[in-house]
Amino acid sequence: MSSVLRSAVTGVGGYLPDEVVTNDDLAKVVDTSDEWIRERTGIRVRRRAAPDQAVSDLAVEAARQALAAAGRTPEEVDLIVVATTTPDLTFPAAATIVQRKLGCPVGVAFDVQAVCSGFVYALSVADGFVARGRAKCALVIGAETMTRLMDWTDRGTCVLFGDGAGAVVLEPVEGQGTTADRGLLGFALRADGTKQDLLYVDGGPSTNGEVGKLRMQGNQVFRHAVVNISEAVTAAAADAGISVAEVDWFVPHQANMRILEGVARRLGIDEAKVITTVADHANTSAASIPLALATGVADGRVKRGDLLLLEAMGGGLTWGACVLRF
Ligand code: ACO
Repeated sequence: MSSVLRSAVTGVGGYLPDEVVTNDDLAKVVDTSDEWIRERTGIRVRRRAAPDQAVSDLAVEAARQALAAAGRTPEEVDLIVVATTTPDLTFPAAATIVQRKLGCPVGVAFDVQAVCSGFVYALSVADGFVARGRAKCALVIGAETMTRLMDWTDRGTCVLFGDGAGAVVLEPVEGQGTTADRGLLGFALRADGTKQDLLYVDGGPSTNGEVGKLRMQGNQVFRHAVVNISEAVTAAAADAGISVAEVDWFVPHQANMRILEGVARRLGIDEAKVITTVADHANTSAASIPLALATGVADGRVKRGDLLLLEAMGGGLTWGACVLRF
C-alpha cells in the first residue's frame, strides 16, 4: 500500500442568525398552517438573517468556529471556497469578501454555485487543491440567505427555506490509500440541465438584471429527489470502496423530512443514523450539510474516525454525494 495525500476535515463550525421565524408567523403572511408545514415537510422553525447581515457575515461566523475547532488561525488559510446561491454581490465572490473580513492572507478564494448541492461540489473542488498539496489549510463554507429569494405570496416555497452558514477546515493528511484513511474518500456529482424549469430563480445579471425570486414545482422536485439522491449515494459509496451499510452517519441536505425518510427507506438505512436538522433550520440550501455536520459534532454523535456520507440535490438540477472518514 502506498502513501497518499487525503483532505481531512479538521474543524467544523455552524452559525444561525438570531431571528426565529415560526410556522405560525408564516401563517400570518400566506394561507398556510403549522400543521400543514409540519406534516408535509417536518419544518417547525427557520432562521432569518437581519437586514444588515450579508451572506459573508454568516460565513465568517461559521468559519471562525471551524478554524477554532481545527486549532488554526485566519493567517494560515490559503484557500477559501464558498458554496452559495445568494452572494453579497454579483461580484466579487463571497469568498473574497470572507477572506477580507477574516483577515486571511492573499491566497485562492472563489465561489461555487450548485444551489443546494453546492457544499458537496465545493468539497470536491477543494479536494482537488488539498489532496494535491496545493493548499495546506482550506476553508470550505456553505452559506445562504435564501429568505432573500422568496416570493412572500407563494405558500408553496416561502415556508420551506431559511438562512444560515456552516464551514469545515480541510487539511492534507497522509493516508495508506485504504478506506481506513481519514479524509475525503469518494464522490459522485451529477447535473441535468434539462430539469431547470423545476427549480430556478427568475432573475439574473444577464437576463433581466434583477435578483429574482425562487420558483419551484415542489412535487416534481420531490419526485426526482429520492431516486437521484439514492443513485448518487450508491455511486459515492462505490467510488470510495465502501458499502452503504458501513456508514456511521448520514449527513444529508435538509430539504424535507419526507425526502430524508424516502432515501433512508430506499437504501435500507437505519433512520437513527441520519442527522436531521430540517425541523429547526428548514432548507438552508448549500449551508444545510455543514450545519447538520456541526450539529452532529457539537452534540457528540459524530466522532473522529466515523464514516460519514453527505448527500444533496438542488436547482439545476444538480445532485451528489461524498464519503469521508471524519
Ligand atoms: N400551506 C398549505 N397548503 C399548501 C402549501 C402551504 N405552505 N403549499 C402548497 N400547498 C397546497 C398546494 O396549493 C396544493 O393545493 P391544491 O391541491 O388545492 O392545489 C396542495 O398543498 C398540494 O400541493 P403539492 O405541491 O402537491 O404538495 P406536496 O405534498 O408535494 O408538498 C412540498 C409540497 C412540501 C413543496 C414538497 O413537494 C417538497 O418538499 N418538495 C421538495 C422541494 C424542495 O425541497 N426543494 C428544495 C430544493 S431541492 C431539494 O433540496 C431536494
